[in-house]
Amino acid sequence: MPYETLRIETDAGVALITIDRQEKRNALNTTVRAELVAALDALRDDDAVRVLVITGAGDKAFVAGADIGEFAGRTPLEQRAAMTGRRVFDEVAAYPKPVIAMINGFCLGGGCELALACDLRIAADTAKLGQPEINLGIIPGGGGTQRLPRVVGTGQAMRLVLSGEIIDAAEALRIGLVDLVHPAAGLRERAMELARKMAEKSPVALRMAKSAVRAAAEMPMAAGLAYETELFVTCFGSDDKREGVAAFLEKRPPRFTGT
Ligand code: COA
Repeated sequence: MPYETLRIETDAGVALITIDRQEKRNALNTTVRAELVAALDALRDDDAVRVLVITGAGDKAFVAGADIGEFAGRTPLEQRAAMTGRRVFDEVAAYPKPVIAMINGFCLGGGCELALACDLRIAADTAKLGQPEINLGIIPGGGGTQRLPRVVGTGQAMRLVLSGEIIDAAEALRIGLVDLVHPAAGLRERAMELARKMAEKSPVALRMAKSAVRAAAEMPMAAGLAYETELFVTCFGSDDKREGVAAFLEKRPPRFTGT
């Protein structure tokens, strides 16, 4: 399907989604959001795609935030109307397949919130991250006030949200906002290598594992452990579990089918 603001390349079980509005630092306007939701739908049902990687076009920005131009002149009711329906941040967070944010430059505001909705964040050493909405007289509205403290803790989230301070990749790694930092030149290869490694695994187990780990941020410990047990035993009903165990015992690589 042709998109106006996205490019999608699929290889070895990995779909690389590139947000391409370079002239606006890949800012999330209405079209990008709608196209991202449509692309997520299309890739959800594509069994050949097991892992998603999201990045921004060019070497300047991952996503420099919501499109500020769209905010000008908007009333609260108009802004609420713009935010109804399916929201890309929640769609990414609830996605049944792993989603990796490949952060290749400025990752600000809604860009940081998009990255936070992903399962993990791998950043170029040149990346810059932050929640600068406070500079515009607003607050994060794409989940940042909730997902950021769950990732970096309340104090660091307060610092970023209240000051609008932009931090570099090394500091983002130190506070846990990103999970890996890589020299910019090799970022794509490193991210794709990690994604391909995941894509070789059982899609059933990937789905269960993601769901269980996500639950840790939302459930009390006892409920989370019970949920983990349910997903663990559910895996025992899959062909992939039979194949994975048989392959180990027969000393050969497994061939997972996702059933
Ligand atoms: N929304 C709309 N347009 C944006 C944008 C955004 N979030 N971020 C950048 N742009 C546009 C600029 O307006 C400029 O457009 P123009 O060429 O038509 O004037 C173009 O992208 C390039 O931006 P510029 O500021 O010249 O690039 P830079 O490399 O010097 O700086 C940033 C990059 C990201 C530091 C800077 O653009 C910026 O601070 N952007 C806003 C970040 C922000 O507040 N995000 C939160 C939004 S809620």
